[in-house]
Amino acid sequence: MRAETSFEPIERASVDALRALQLERLGATLRRAYERVPFYRAAFDAAGAHPDDLHELKDLARFPFLLKRHFRDEYPFGLFAVPRERVVRIHASSGTTGRPTVVGYTASDVATWANLMARSIYAAGGRPGDVVHVAYGYGLFTGGLGAHYGAERLGCTVVPMSGGQTERQAQLIMDFRPRVLMCTPSYALAIAEELAKRGTGVGSSSLEIGIFGAEPWSEQMRVQIESRLGLSALDIYGLSEVMGPGVAQECAETKDGLTLWEDHFYPEIVDPHTEAVLEDGSFGELVLTSLTKEALPVVRYRTRDLTRLLPGTARAMRRLERIAGRSDDMLIVRGVNVYPSQFEELILADPRLAPHYEIHLTRTGALDAVTVLVEALPEAPEHARTACTAALEREIKQWIGVTVRVEVVEPGAIPRSAGKAARVIDRRREPNRSAT
Ligand code: DLL
Repeated sequence: MRAETSFEPIERASVDALRALQLERLGATLRRAYERVPFYRAAFDAAGAHPDDLHELKDLARFPFLLKRHFRDEYPFGLFAVPRERVVRIHASSGTTGRPTVVGYTASDVATWANLMARSIYAAGGRPGDVVHVAYGYGLFTGGLGAHYGAERLGCTVVPMSGGQTERQAQLIMDFRPRVLMCTPSYALAIAEELAKRGTGVGSSSLEIGIFGAEPWSEQMRVQIESRLGLSALDIYGLSEVMGPGVAQECAETKDGLTLWEDHFYPEIVDPHTEAVLEDGSFGELVLTSLTKEALPVVRYRTRDLTRLLPGTARAMRRLERIAGRSDDMLIVRGVNVYPSQFEELILADPRLAPHYEIHLTRTGALDAVTVLVEALPEAPEHARTACTAALEREIKQWIGVTVRVEVVEPGAIPRSAGKAARVIDRRREPNRSAT
């Protein structure tokens, strides 16, 4: 039975075998970075760290961090460890300000990525021959092409739909009858609404597996998506700087957080303030080092993603707890640190509310004001809406510790996104704007 749940034999390696492989690959990565990328050579020299100093895995802590701003400083190709001619693919993340973050792949990197995505889809329960509907965006974003190459590598029939055109998505899902859906969790909800409009309910849909990621989502959101689409929803994690989707994947047999593909990535959790490496199990910022990448080796990349490293269950490889949020998405509201996912958990716990919400932040004088806009379910009667306004305000005050105004809006009033949902609208720097 065991062999059936994994795509590659290495997934069954013991912890000891993994650590030995990691040490060997880490040494090669550090040498490659030092010898081929002037940025790394200068940074290692400045930190007094040399690849020869790596004797055991914990020696990695002697090496300096790689930050998002270094990608900007070295824009576009300064971090590449191969001549540009060997780079067969470029991806980039848009970034709201300044230069985009550019990443490159050799042919072998693309093959490794496709393999890891095939492994991820397999771990989620996908099998060769499945129809896979990809509604992650295609283009510079890594979601669409990453999912596409992985599903093809696994031997699936891929529908490269990309994001948007939700009516067409629903039509093609009804016509082609995919078993697997890949998109952001927020977009999965939008597709579910469109399918419901067309009378394709939970019982009649062909979908059995959803592989959702690219944005934070709560356990309550999983329950909502599963009940609306009638599938099993699995979490997938990744980021363009490190590869794209497929760095970690939740396994179907345990559904208990994301197995990090440790033969290709070495994880550390650090305290975002002191930068000290924390014990496994501690909550902190995920730092990733690539172990096999050719074009763009990343050494100690500060992801800004907050999580915990947990012992392996479905595999010996360690798991990431569901990402709580990004350190740069943390809202400081009247001195209280808050993550959007905390609001999501409380909103979705109320059966009268729909899983569509926005958090608006404004400032009146020196005081922050928070308005939570959330949709009522179409079937919720008017008086229930008033009741849940007060109830949610109370819950948020009690559990998160901030005073907010809740506004329950009409079904469909919150804009649906085709990719990563914009949950937080922060207007605190714009003077004299009201919340809505
Ligand atoms: O979002 C890659 C991806 C595509 C992952 C499709 C999964 C599925 P970026 O645009 O570079 O790459 O954004 C990376 O998105 O640092 C996290 O903050 C967030 N993120 C990605 N996956 C998850 C997840 C892609 N499962 C950033 N849960 C990361 C929470 C996630 N946040």
